[in-house]
Amino acid sequence: MKDASILLLPGDGIGPEVVTELRKVMDWFSSNRGFNFTIHEDDLGGAAYDRYGTPLAEETLARAKQVDAIVMGSVGGPKWDNVERHLRPEAGLLTLRKELDLFANLRPATCRPALASASSLREELVSGLDILILRELTAGVYFGEPRGIETLADGRRRALDTQVYFESEIERLLHAGFELAGKRNGKVHSVEKANVMETGVFWREIATRVGKAYPEIQLEHMYADNCAMQLVRAPKQFDVIATDNLFGDILSDCAAMLTGSLGMLPSASLGALIDGKRAALYEPVHGSAPDIAGEGKANPLATVLSFAMCLRYSLDSNEEADLLEKAVDQVLDNNIRTIDIAASGVDPVSTSEMGQALLTALDSLNHSQ
Ligand code: IPM
Ligand code: MG
Repeated sequence: MKDASILLLPGDGIGPEVVTELRKVMDWFSSNRGFNFTIHEDDLGGAAYDRYGTPLAEETLARAKQVDAIVMGSVGGPKWDNVERHLRPEAGLLTLRKELDLFANLRPATCRPALASASSLREELVSGLDILILRELTAGVYFGEPRGIETLADGRRRALDTQVYFESEIERLLHAGFELAGKRNGKVHSVEKANVMETGVFWREIATRVGKAYPEIQLEHMYADNCAMQLVRAPKQFDVIATDNLFGDILSDCAAMLTGSLGMLPSASLGALIDGKRAALYEPVHGSAPDIAGEGKANPLATVLSFAMCLRYSLDSNEEADLLEKAVDQVLDNNIRTIDIAASGVDPVSTSEMGQALLTALDSLNHSQ
């Protein structure tokens, strides 16, 4: 699909810097690969709160429902720490996920060859690592009701969140997990806490049942705490990890770090296929990193790689997705690194120098094809 409407939501912190580099990459694809992008740009999160008084404006949401794909930077920052919870930057992102029913969050943790030595684990544990965390994104404890902080009649205060899952919500996530594993290495780890949580017992029961429809896929059940341990002990045992919203949030940060830097990891949040169309939001796994915002230190590669996922999953352009991923590898092979992944003794490049290096790599790969 070469004609595509894309909503860009740079967000907060380093979001605008990394999305600026992405725009250059998108322009490159327009000029060199015949894409015709209609780009809309809007605020989300804290930036939207400052401008519209809400972290996700009605018009932004309406636009999000129209476009072929959304690409986001990041949201959040200390500036909005004291804002009421429903108006916080994160609430804008959660509402967007919920409203578009983006239940399947794909977080691939791939260790790019040039970065194996940047991992906090020994190189042999992570080199060649290729796992996919599939996180349920629209239900569970991040959305469950009742929730709140309350004062009881006797004056004691308490806080409460609710972990709740409908059968259908678990089922559809697991189907996605088995289907993805079928295109990868044929293994699903279904991760929960069936030893202490009712939702965990339920999750395991459904995973076992759904798994029967995929006899060629190997299914293993694993407790979430054990999974965290196994991820740093022997990460290559995993292929697809299918898990709920909370565990997926935590385990994906952990898996990300195995690959060298949180600044490298992309994600795709996908809805169901309805009338031939699938709602999709692409975003880096990293946060808004307010401590380095505006300093030109941010690594734009996670956002660029998220766009590669967009090319693959929303725009049916596998060839271009491969090209973009190859360009990233080439840049890294040439030792062009932002500070988060810089090798010792090599001066790190800035965010925009990284963007420029990508364009150069794209040009050279394009000509050699
Ligand atoms: C993530 C983030 C978000 C989440 C925040 C920003 C709401 O941590 O995408 O992993 O908790 O889902
Ligand atoms: Mg997170």
